[in-house]
Amino acid sequence: MITIRTRYYRIDPKVPNLTHIQEAAEILRKGGVVAFPTETVYGLGADGLNPEAVAKIFKAKGRPADNPLIMHVAQQKEIDLLAREIPPLAERMMELFWPGPLTLILPKSRCVPDIVTAGLDTVAVRMPAHPIALAFLKAARVPVAAPSANLSGRPSPTIGTHVLKDLAGKIDAVVDGGKTSVGLESTVLDLTSDPPVILRPGGVTLEQLQEVLGQVVLDPAIRGEYLIDGLVPRAPGMKYAHYAPRAKVFLVEGEPWQVALKMKELVEQHKAEGKRVGIICTEEMLFLCREMVPQPDHYETLGPGEDLGEVASRLYSALRNCDRYHLDVVFAQTFPENGIGVAIMNRLRKAASHRVIKA
Ligand code: TXA
Ligand code: MG
Repeated sequence: MITIRTRYYRIDPKVPNLTHIQEAAEILRKGGVVAFPTETVYGLGADGLNPEAVAKIFKAKGRPADNPLIMHVAQQKEIDLLAREIPPLAERMMELFWPGPLTLILPKSRCVPDIVTAGLDTVAVRMPAHPIALAFLKAARVPVAAPSANLSGRPSPTIGTHVLKDLAGKIDAVVDGGKTSVGLESTVLDLTSDPPVILRPGGVTLEQLQEVLGQVVLDPAIRGEYLIDGLVPRAPGMKYAHYAPRAKVFLVEGEPWQVALKMKELVEQHKAEGKRVGIICTEEMLFLCREMVPQPDHYETLGPGEDLGEVASRLYSALRNCDRYHLDVVFAQTFPENGIGVAIMNRLRKAASHRVIKA
């Protein structure tokens, strides 16, 4: 594999250096691939109207060709070019949630190259709420096709270092704008079916969507039910093993004190087998686990349990750290499935390949 020189721009989101943003956008306009921060996770962008440029994204990530990309825009009127038709409901959703962590699936126009949509006749579109992302997209003056900026199958990047770790030498530039705020990807909402379907839970919650849409359906694949009854998820990306560290992850479910007791038993058992063991948990759970003997080799804490936003924003770093600490097996607690908790549990179940231990 040939390595290329990856330009690195460190940009302060509070006072973005427009010269550097311009330079990065110029690289993209010339057919290069550039990683940039959004409010959810880092994206790996290319000119969405240039099929050769988009092909470089798939190559750098090792992404399967049947997994379509999201088109990112800085202005709502750019959607006129990308969508064959914009239903009034779509306009409404854009007005209410953009810029923000909501991706809409609409009928695609002929301008959108097949490689972007993996041959589907729909297109995913989103306007991110991040000052650097918006300035970069504006400077690009083209819709930017961008998946998350990780190697395929790895947790999405929430800091610039994650991007460099996965993609340095494989992409043309990285715009590092520090830690992303949401920490999990956007909600993907399919507006081509009635009622609309959530294909991927994310930054905009089911409750928020219900308030506006009335009826909205969660794709059964989201809770992993397709594994049981053979359903195929409708967002192609959702069928792949994902977000997984190299360690084997297990979810431990139950009342907090029962979970702590179960963790103790599991740590003891796996340490006896000579494994390096980690625990992913809240601060409260850490407190309950502190007295256990032997101790696990590593803890990743996600903040206080009542702050699911904080938990979401720290989850991918925690999963990546399991590799940094060379863990063999990791036990993670579960979270209530309300608000962003639906997205947290979706990612945790995938990281654990649906292995759940009842405490
Ligand atoms: O927050 C995000 O959405 C981030 C940032 C960078 O914007 N992007 C992101 O992209 O997560 P990616 O490629 O990692 O995930 C896009 C998801 C995949 O599950 C893909 O299958 C689905 O959206 N998707 C894209 N186009 C689609 C389409 N036309 N129909 C159904 N699903 C689609
Ligand atoms: Mg992704």
